[in-house]
Amino acid sequence: MSTLPTVAIIGAGSSGIAAAKALHQRGVPFDCFEASDRVGGNWVFANKNGVSAAYRDLHINTSRDRMQFSDFPMPRSLPDFPHHTQIAAYFDSYVDHFGFRDRIRFETPIAHAQPRADGTWRLTDANGETRDYDMLVVANGHHWDKRWPEPAFAGADTFAGIQMHAHDYRDNAFLADQDVVVLGMGNSAMDIAVEASYVASATHLAARRGAWIVPKYLFGKPLDQINTIPHVPHWLNARLSETIIRLHTGRPERYGLPRPDHRFGAAHPTVSGWILDRIIHGAIAPRPNLARLGPDWVEFVDGTRVHADVVIYCTGYHITFPFFDANFLAAPGNRIDLYRRVFRPGHPSLAFVGLMQPLGAIMPLAEAQGQWLAAYLCGEYHLPSPRAMELGIRREDRRRRRRYVASERHTIQVDFDTYLFDLRRERRRGAARAAAAGNALAVPPRVRVGEAAAA
Ligand SMILES: Cc1cc2nc3c(=O)[nH]c(=O)nc-3n(C[C@H](O)[C@H](O)[C@H](O)COP(=O)(O)OP(=O)(O)OC[C@H]3O[C@@H](n4cnc5c(N)ncnc54)[C@H](O)[C@@H]3O)c2cc1C
Ligand SMILES: NC(=O)c1ccc[n+]([C@@H]2O[C@H](COP(=O)([O-])OP(=O)(O)OC[C@H]3O[C@@H](n4cnc5c(N)ncnc54)[C@H](OP(=O)(O)O)[C@@H]3O)[C@@H](O)[C@H]2O)c1
Repeated sequence: MSTLPTVAIIGAGSSGIAAAKALHQRGVPFDCFEASDRVGGNWVFANKNGVSAAYRDLHINTSRDRMQFSDFPMPRSLPDFPHHTQIAAYFDSYVDHFGFRDRIRFETPIAHAQPRADGTWRLTDANGETRDYDMLVVANGHHWDKRWPEPAFAGADTFAGIQMHAHDYRDNAFLADQDVVVLGMGNSAMDIAVEASYVASATHLAARRGAWIVPKYLFGKPLDQINTIPHVPHWLNARLSETIIRLHTGRPERYGLPRPDHRFGAAHPTVSGWILDRIIHGAIAPRPNLARLGPDWVEFVDGTRVHADVVIYCTGYHITFPFFDANFLAAPGNRIDLYRRVFRPGHPSLAFVGLMQPLGAIMPLAEAQGQWLAAYLCGEYHLPSPRAMELGIRREDRRRRRRYVASERHTIQVDFDTYLFDLRRERRRGAARAAAAGNALAVPPRVRVGEAAAA
C-alpha cells in the first residue's frame, strides 16, 4: 500500500496531463482515464472521443509563449500562433518527455463517479468495470457540451436549411455558394464567419451584444504578451487597452457592428485579425440578433430579413459532468462554486483542473493547479476551513460579477497573472497550515491504485 493517497484523473486533455505530470513527478499513484485513443482533447482534430471542436484551419488565439507549460517550452520553430496539429503534437511530446503515458488508460470513458461515505471514490467505466481511489480529479473539459439558443428562436423548427452549432463545424467546403448566418461575437463566430466569407454567397454576422475585437498582434508582438503585471489594477489596464484599440482600429460601430454595452475587459476577449477586414471588404454583413426564422429566411431584431441556407450558432457551451449524479454535483447556469477554481468546500477528496476561462491560456494555469494538488496530496499544503473557502468563493464571485458582463460565458473567468500570483500566496499560507499540523495527509490513503473494486 502506498503511503500517499491514490488518485483517478478523468480526462487526458491539456488539463488532465498537466495534473498527471505533477502527480507523476511527486510519486503520487494515479490512473488517468481518457475516452479517446490519444491525449490532447479539444486539440485533436476529428478526435475519436467525438467531442473536439477543432476545425481544419484552427490556430490557437493565445500565443505560443503564453500557452506552453513552464518546464517544457514549445519548439521555437513553431509560429507565435500554431496550428491545432502542432498543439496536439506538443501535448503528445509532453507526455512522452515526462514519461507517464503508461499511467493513462486510453479508450476508457468513465461513465459514473460515486463518492463513498469514507471519502473515497468508486469509478465505473463504460465497460462496467469498477475501481476505487482515494481522490478524484476532474479534467473533462468545458467546451464540448453545445449551448443552443435557449429557447430556440421563433420559427426555428420551420427552417428548411441547415442549423448547426459551431462545435460541429469542420471546414467551409459545404458553405460554398450558400447564404450563411453566423450568430455570436465570441471567437468561434469570428473564425467561422471569416472562413464562410471566402466561399459563401453571403455571410451575415449576427450578435445580441457588441464586443471589442482585438488583433492577435500589436506593437509587433502577440497581444497577450503585453500588460502582464499582476499589480496594475485591472481597470487601469483595461482603460489603457481600450484607448489603444480605439486608436488602432476605432470603435466597433464604425464597422457596422453593435456598440459594446460594456467597457473593454468586461467580456472574454474576442480575438481576430481578419474579421474587420472582411467586413470592410463587404464580405461579411454585421447584423443585430436573430428575431425569427422562416423556411428559407432569417429575420433580425431590426426587422431586416435575409435569405438563408445555413445558420451556425456560435453560442458557447455548457459546463457538464455526465459521470456525476445530478443531485451530487451539476453546474446550472454554468455556475459551480470552487475554491480558487479547484476545490469544493466540504469535499476534500475532489478537485477540478482546467475548469476556468482565463484572459490568457489555460495550460500554465492547469499546470499550477496540478502542482498545487500534488503538494496537497503529499501533505505539504492544507486547505483553509470550509467556511473560509466559502467566503473566498463568494468574494471572488462578487469580484467577477462586478467586472464582467452578466453572461453564462463569464462564470469561471480568471486573470492569468493574478490567478498565478494569488495561487502562490495561497500555497504559502497553506504550507504554513500544513506544517502546523505536522504535514498530515489531508486525504488519507485507503485504497490501492488501479485496484478493482470489491464486489
Ligand atoms: C475552438 C476552440 C479553440 C480554443 N482555443 C484556445 C486557445 O487558443 N487557447 C486556450 O488557452 N484555450 C483555448 N480553448 C479552450 C480549450 O478548452 C482549451 O484549449 C483546452 O482544450 C482545455 O483542455 P482540457 O483538458 O481542460 O479540456 P479538453 O481539451 O476538452 O480535454 C478533455 C479530455 O477529457 C476527456 N474526457 C471527458 N470526459 C471523459 C470521461 N467521462 N471519461 C474519460 N475521459 C473523458 C476527453 O476525451 C478529452 O480528451 C479553445 C476552445 C475551443 C472550443
Ligand atoms: N481560434 C481560437 O483559438 C478559438 C476559436 C474559437 C473558440 N475559441 C475559444 O473557445 C471558447 C468558446 O468560444 P465560443 O465563441 O464558442 O463561445 P463563447 O465565447 O461562449 O461566445 C458565445 C457567444 O454567443 C452569444 N450567445 C450565447 N447565447 C446566445 C443566444 N441565445 N442568442 C444570441 N447570442 C447568444 C454570446 O453572447 P453574450 O456575450 O451576450 O453571452 C457570445 O457572443 C472560448 O474560450 C474561446 O476563446 C478559441
